[in-house]
Amino acid sequence: MSNTSNPNYHWWQTGVIYQIYPRSYQDSNGDGVGDLPGIIQCLDYLSETLGMNAIWLSPIYPSPMHDFGYDVADYTDIHPLFGTLADFDRLLDETHQRGMKLMLDLVPNHTSDEHPWFIESRSSRDNPKRDWYIWRDGLPSPIRAERSASGDEAGRGVGGEGAPPNNWLSHFGGPAWTYDEGTKQYYLHQFVKQQPDLNYRNPDVVNAILDVMRFWLDRGVDGFRVDVIGLMMKDPEFRDEPPNPDWDGVKPFDSLDHIYTANLSEVHDLILQMRAVLDSYDDRMMVGETYLPNDKLMLYYGTPDKLECHLPFNFQLILAKWNAAGVHKMVDDYEAALPSDGWPNWVLGNHDQHRLATRVGSDQARVANMLLLTLRGTPTCYYGDELGMENVAIPPEKIQDPPAINQPEIAHLVGRDPERTPMQWDDSPNAGFAAPEVNDLWLPIAPNYKEVNVANQLNNPRSFLNYFRKLLAYRKATPALLWGSYSSIDPGSRDAQKNCFVFERQADDQRLLVVLNFSPQDQKLSLPGLGTGRIALSTNLDRAGEVNLADFNLRANEGCIIGL
Ligand code: GLC
Repeated sequence: MSNTSNPNYHWWQTGVIYQIYPRSYQDSNGDGVGDLPGIIQCLDYLSETLGMNAIWLSPIYPSPMHDFGYDVADYTDIHPLFGTLADFDRLLDETHQRGMKLMLDLVPNHTSDEHPWFIESRSSRDNPKRDWYIWRDGLPSPIRAERSASGDEAGRGVGGEGAPPNNWLSHFGGPAWTYDEGTKQYYLHQFVKQQPDLNYRNPDVVNAILDVMRFWLDRGVDGFRVDVIGLMMKDPEFRDEPPNPDWDGVKPFDSLDHIYTANLSEVHDLILQMRAVLDSYDDRMMVGETYLPNDKLMLYYGTPDKLECHLPFNFQLILAKWNAAGVHKMVDDYEAALPSDGWPNWVLGNHDQHRLATRVGSDQARVANMLLLTLRGTPTCYYGDELGMENVAIPPEKIQDPPAINQPEIAHLVGRDPERTPMQWDDSPNAGFAAPEVNDLWLPIAPNYKEVNVANQLNNPRSFLNYFRKLLAYRKATPALLWGSYSSIDPGSRDAQKNCFVFERQADDQRLLVVLNFSPQDQKLSLPGLGTGRIALSTNLDRAGEVNLADFNLRANEGCIIGL
C-alpha cells in the first residue's frame, strides 16, 4: 500500500469532515432529541466503520432553540438537552483517542435574544452593552408605513413606533428589524427576531468573540465552522439595499441585492483577527460558511501574507444543476480561480439544503459521492448521506423550522426540517435513533428506515453504505486522490461530453482516471490516448480488472475509478 502520510499536508487538507446535526444523531436519554453521550456511542461507527477524520458538530450551546441552536444564549457552555461540559470533554477526548478531530460551530454574527449581552443591551439606551448590538431609531411612519410589518411568534421582525430604519430583510422572511417597546428603538436581526446581530464595529465585541474561540481552543477543539461569516459587518450608513434585478419572485429575501449587509470588505479585517487566534495554537483551522461565486469566494482565503479562512466552504456542488457538462465546467472554473496557496474543498449536503439523494436521485447519489471523494480538496459529508438518506415530508403540524413557518407559501422550498430527520441506524421502532418506547421524536423518522439504515446496509455487500466505505477507504490509501493534481479530460463524442465527466488525478507515478456517467443510459467513452486501465472501484461494486479505454462502456448511472 502506498504511503499516505505526508508532512506537507494538514489534517484538514487530507482528511474527510463529517457533519453531525446533534439533535438528530443519537438520543441516549429518551427525550426524543440527540445528545453528546449519544454521539460518543457512535464514535466507533465514525472512525472504524466509516473511516472519517474529523467531525463538525452543529451548535450544542445553551439556546432557546428558535433557530435550533443557531441562537446562542451562552457561547461557553453546553445545552442541557445535549449534556454537560464534562460530556463534551469526554467526547473530545474519545474523538482524539480514535485519531479524529472535533470541530465546533461558531456562530459569531448573532446571539440569542436571551444571551446576557442582549438582555443588558436592551435594558436601557445607556447600558454599557447597548452598543454591542445594532440599534437604530425608527423612521417617521408616513415614509415607510407600508414596511412596518407586524411580527409573529415564529420570529418575523416586529414593527412599532414609526417604521424600520431601512429596507433590510431577514433571511427567514419579514423585515430585519424589530422594535423594542422598552427602549423605543429597533434592533437588527438578519435571521429570526430572537437572533439579534452583534455589532462588530465595537472592539469589545470582537474581543469577546475571540475569547470564545480561545475558550474552546484551550479545551482542545481542533477548529470551527464559522456560521454566516460574511454577514458580520454591515454598512455603517445603513443605506437601503437596491432591488435585485434578477429576482425570480420566489423568496422575498432575494428581492434585494445585499450589498450593505453581506461580504463588506471590512469583514476581512475581522477574519484576520480570528485567524491570528487560531494560528497562536497548533494546527487548528476554520471553515467559513460562504455561499458565493468564485470571484467573491476566493477573497475569503485572504492573501499569502494575510491568510483568512483555511477553507471557505465551496457549495457549488449543492447549488449546481446536476448535469455532466455543467459540473465539469464548474469544477474546472473553481480549480482555475483558486489562489495558488488556496486549498480546495467540496460539499454535497448540509443541514440547510435538501438531501443529496432527493436532489439528484438515489442512483446518481453514488456518482455524486464518487465525485466528492475523488475531486482535489477536502470533502465535507452530511450525516446520513452515506446511507442515501432522503428528504422526509414533514406533516404541517410537525414543521419546526422558522423560515418554513414564516413563509408557508414557500415552505416546501425554504423549510429545512426534511433534511434534519433522525439518523437511521436500524429497523427497530425509532430506527435506533432513540429507544423503541420513546414517543415524540423532535422530527419524524423517514418512512424508508426499515430498508435504509446502517445495520441493514452493513449486511448487504453492495449497499450504499458499503460502497461509501470502500470509496472512502480507497481515497485514504491513494496519494493521487489525497494530494495529486487534477485535470479534466475531454470524454470524446458529443454524447459523452454531454453525459460524462472524466478527469485525471496524479501524484508521482500514480495516475487515476475518474469516469462518471451522469445519465440513466449507457455511455461509450473513447479515450484511445490512455490505452488500457484497471478498474479500482465502481459505483455498483460489481466490476474490476483491465479495460480498454479506447472503447469503454460506462453503464447507466455508473462511475468508475480506473488506475492508468
Ligand atoms: C447558517 C446556518 C443556518 C442558520 C443560519 C443562522 O446559515 O447554517 O442553519 O439558520 O446560519 O444562524
